[in-house]
Amino acid sequence: MAFGFEVLHKDIAGRIGRLRVGSKTVRTPALLPVINPHLQIVTPSELYRMGVEALITNAYIFYRSEHYRDLALERGLHAVLDYPGVIMTDSGSFQLSVYGDVEVGNRETLLFQQQIGSEIVVPLDLPTPPSADRGRAESELAVTLGRIDEACSLVGEHSVLAAPVQGGIFEDLREEAGREVSRRGCIVAPIGAVVPLMENYRYRDLVRVVLAAKRGLSPGACVHLFGAGHPAMLALAVAMGCDLFDSAAYALYAKEGRYLTVHGTQFLSELQELPCSCSVCRSHTPESLRRSSDRERLLALHNLQVTLAEIARIRQAIQDGTLWELVDERCRSHPRLLEGYRELLRSAPMLEPFDRSTKRRFFYRGDESCLRTEVVRYQRDLARFDLVGRVLVSFDGRPAPGFDRCLAFRPPFGPYPPGLAETFPIGQCELPSWDEPMVRAGCRGIAALVRSNPGVTFAVRCEDRWSGIVTEEVPGIEVLVDVD
Ligand code: GUN
Ligand code: ZN
Repeated sequence: MAFGFEVLHKDIAGRIGRLRVGSKTVRTPALLPVINPHLQIVTPSELYRMGVEALITNAYIFYRSEHYRDLALERGLHAVLDYPGVIMTDSGSFQLSVYGDVEVGNRETLLFQQQIGSEIVVPLDLPTPPSADRGRAESELAVTLGRIDEACSLVGEHSVLAAPVQGGIFEDLREEAGREVSRRGCIVAPIGAVVPLMENYRYRDLVRVVLAAKRGLSPGACVHLFGAGHPAMLALAVAMGCDLFDSAAYALYAKEGRYLTVHGTQFLSELQELPCSCSVCRSHTPESLRRSSDRERLLALHNLQVTLAEIARIRQAIQDGTLWELVDERCRSHPRLLEGYRELLRSAPMLEPFDRSTKRRFFYRGDESCLRTEVVRYQRDLARFDLVGRVLVSFDGRPAPGFDRCLAFRPPFGPYPPGLAETFPIGQCELPSWDEPMVRAGCRGIAALVRSNPGVTFAVRCEDRWSGIVTEEVPGIEVLVDVD
């Protein structure tokens, strides 16, 4: 089967891509809704009409049910579910992690998934929980890699293998797992066993393990984040380079009367308003929704539409080069998401090589913006700048006599030659009035320039209120204080 993953646009480590599966195409980032054949509150054909290009279902559920098993073997999954898009099947691994035991082997599930016509198949990996110690994580990873090896020899030409990246909470094991998956030539790489991290709002740990896996994986791998699909965290996950998501949240939450928003989850019972523009919310009041005999289904439809709209927003942000702004906005909805965002920013030096070279704009949104990839890149590139003689960095851009060269200053980046005033990021950077963190960050740019030009004499001209920061960040530099 023709199969491939192509990256079309990038922003941070996120991308817009095209996953080709035979004659079908899935645009990524993509949400694969989880379908349980026993409980189809939204049917696969409805999903297809809503623009859902791929879904995921659990092969183990089909395997265990005599009715669905026979039906799927006879007619194939696409006919049974009445869905013409791409169908991915999970093995019994999730059940394995929850119930500790399943009645199916690796070989059996892989053959079964192919017999029922699944296009993306998953081996019986071992989802190592975050609580597992290193010894357990190592031995389970060895088992998972063995099962991926077996899968490589069992998966035929009508399906493609998704090879899970495990390793528990250990970053070096996640990186090794990523490397081993890519070394085997697997293009679809789900990052596994992250559900317990997300359920417990451990977004800092989530960022650590996902970035560790990404370091090992080939940049061409299509990365799936197993079990992720809450709209509040999708932008963060995409920024790390995740391309596929699957979630049963839309249906599970609807069952419990929970209403998803990009800022978090609310109980329908507590809502006085429906703050959403989807078809369900525009044709109901909270009261009419609560009273509806169709409440669970309507809530599931809302939850799904909110999530699909967020995916669309993320894709647009990638095209516009505004994904950092979207991540910043989303991650302020919950302090634990903010922790994840800060962890992502700490990793900006690792993300920088993935990021695109120009963007439409850089909106300063507070201290966190000082750590963005564009700042890291700008200050790294400053070190390549060759200067001679006496150089002035002038905060207001006005030159002064007695210098061979005058550079202007743009926080949070640093010094720039006036000729680059219109180029990215200097020209596209929108700032509120200068504050201490951005000036401090810009001074780190001056320090980088000073370090890389040891033969040059530097001076900074600025208002008195900045002179303390300048000397703290660039010790020993001459400061000329503007008096007017
Ligand atoms: N669904 C959620 N997490 C996992 C995982 O680690 N492995 C598999 N196969 N399915 C999952
Ligand atoms: Zn809605």
